[in-house]
Amino acid sequence: MPFDHKHLLAIEPLSKEDILTILDTAESFLEISTREVKKVPTLRGKTVINLFFEPSTRTRSSFELAAKRLSADIVNFSKEISSVVKGETLKDTVLNLEAMQSDAIVIRHSCPGTPRYISTFCRSHVINAGDGAHEHPTQALLDAFTIRQQKKSLEGLKTVIVGDILHSRVARSNIYLLKKLGAEVVCVGPPALLPEEFKEFGIAIDYNLDRAIRGADVIMMLRIQLERQQKNLFPSLREYRNIYSLTKKRFRRAKKNAIIMHPGPINRGVEISADLADSAKSVILRQVENGIAVRMAVLYLLLGGKERETTD
Ligand code: CP
Repeated sequence: MPFDHKHLLAIEPLSKEDILTILDTAESFLEISTREVKKVPTLRGKTVINLFFEPSTRTRSSFELAAKRLSADIVNFSKEISSVVKGETLKDTVLNLEAMQSDAIVIRHSCPGTPRYISTFCRSHVINAGDGAHEHPTQALLDAFTIRQQKKSLEGLKTVIVGDILHSRVARSNIYLLKKLGAEVVCVGPPALLPEEFKEFGIAIDYNLDRAIRGADVIMMLRIQLERQQKNLFPSLREYRNIYSLTKKRFRRAKKNAIIMHPGPINRGVEISADLADSAKSVILRQVENGIAVRMAVLYLLLGGKERETTD
């Protein structure tokens, strides 16, 4: 299936076929990272700019490694040591970086819609690496890839997303994606972090984790995003932990072969107990590992490596 998009701005506008094309392409890239020489020449001569206006451990290094494993050049931009601190606008920053002949711009920004905004004036392919509480498309793609790896298909799986749904771009992208691939989605969290309006996404919502987790195939825990909260949205972290933390006791209510996911960074002992995060049921580090293949696939499909070369 061809991937007929110039940018990857969100999951919402993608079709099921688009998503499967990315996942299938990622499948074929997975093996490259296991080689002694983890590199193919597919995107030789292409330039990718990592434009991160918010902190990142996983996404930024994953895009960097994905680009390098495809032999593209990559420039890492950090707001703190750029001319943004001297007052340069976002538009001027992007236009100046593009003047250096970039082919793709991977952007993370706290303001929702920023990737779409820069795509209106940029020549490069734009990839959303997380925009405020809007979307984080490559995270949802790597999550789907990991679920498919563990469960073969997403069709009919009960997936429970737990935590700060309101502020989570990961939850939004996952809700769109999981629905498109036929999974059942239940979101769980305190009422202030899970407004009733979320039902309009065509999902179930529940405020009781013990009830919602029953029969789950996949449990996706989210971090409480204190940095995006304007006021206290639950009484205390202790209270939150008592009601919404994933513990061994709660996890027993899920299916026997259920898996535990988390996009990271995790708050051990808050949304998930440390023993579960490190247990064999957790695929958290597998998600990170798969992220490289998924981002290689996204770069490859957008930048159109002329012919697929998988040899050194
Ligand atoms: N999952 C995720 O987006 O992690 P980072 O913030 O470290 O990139």
